[in-house]
Amino acid sequence: MRKIRIAIVGVGNCASSLVQGINFYRGTGANGTGIGLMHREIGSYRPGDIEVVAAFDIDRRKVGLDVSRAIFAPPNCTKVFCEKVNLTGAIVKMGCVFDGYPPHMAGGDPLRTFLPLEKESTREQIIAELKDSCAEIMVNYLPVGSEEATRFYASCALDAGIAFVNNIPVFIASDPVWAKRFADKNLPIIGDDIKAQVGATILHRTLVDLFRKQSVMGERLADENMHVGPSDYVPWQLDNKIAFIRVEGKIFGDVPVKIDVKLRVEDSPNSAGVAIDSIRCCKLALDRGIGGVLHSASAYFSKHPPVQMTDDEAHRAVEQFIRGERDC
Ligand SMILES: NC(=O)c1ccc[n+]([C@@H]2O[C@H](COP(=O)([O-])OP(=O)(O)OC[C@H]3O[C@@H](n4cnc5c(N)ncnc54)[C@H](O)[C@@H]3O)[C@@H](O)[C@H]2O)c1
Repeated sequence: MRKIRIAIVGVGNCASSLVQGINFYRGTGANGTGIGLMHREIGSYRPGDIEVVAAFDIDRRKVGLDVSRAIFAPPNCTKVFCEKVNLTGAIVKMGCVFDGYPPHMAGGDPLRTFLPLEKESTREQIIAELKDSCAEIMVNYLPVGSEEATRFYASCALDAGIAFVNNIPVFIASDPVWAKRFADKNLPIIGDDIKAQVGATILHRTLVDLFRKQSVMGERLADENMHVGPSDYVPWQLDNKIAFIRVEGKIFGDVPVKIDVKLRVEDSPNSAGVAIDSIRCCKLALDRGIGGVLHSASAYFSKHPPVQMTDDEAHRAVEQFIRGERDC
């Protein structure tokens, strides 16, 4: 069976959930039922066909460890749903720090901050590691705000000749200049900013769509009547995310209606359930010799794709792509 060889950048909570998931769904027992998977197979690829062959981080508690062990090192704190993770053989290598380590983290509680090693790898060493490991897709899981670092690793992916899945809210796939760089090398790219399986994005879109279809909300609201955004980081919540969603409208006869929803969900498995499909779609593009932005996959799996579609349209498009009925 053919494998999908990935290089992970940032071995944090999301990477932990992804690597745990690859092992979890490898089983043929209860896990073999596929609950929690959006696709059991994509093309002929199953989650267990994804192999981590290279990884980069900057934290001294992770660098030097096999990825299967580094994912459980602090400050990672996401839920452990698969305790038995096989050794990958990929040792986490030191990366280049850039803005992945913001100054406000210095001196903080080690259980909540990164502890960077001083000696960084060189760009040449990172590209050599990518080539030597025969990685074919780089999966970006840097911390939010890592603009320079993301551009650095994306340029390493380009120089190593590998595809790029950008899970973080820095514009690469949705930046025409970067998108063209990948297209010029015929390398697939998916992004930006991965969605969650059952997250605040899909939930609020579904509710708003319901209002729209029932004529409860016909027009876009005034800006002062909308608020979307994070409120705070709450340390004791660890990787748990809580979202409050309120949607207000009017039904028949101008009579008001309100929906209040509270979502509580472990953040990292929620996005890893999407990443495991995004990576397999990227591999299909490699197999088919398709490069540049994969628009259907970007629209379905990412919050900020270059071409935004409704969730229904994006779902249809990505299914067509998987069946080979559309190019990108
Ligand atoms: N959890 C979700 O549902 C979700 C959804 C959308 C996007 N994301 C994005 O995924 C990204 C990763 O999230 P997370 O929870 O795993 O973060 P995290 O803080 O747990 O992990 C980030 C990792 O990156 C490492 N790192 C920092 N700078 C680095 C550098 N220069 N080179 C290599 N490694 C470096 C850190 O040491 C850490 O291990 C974030 O940008 C987040 O916004 C997550």
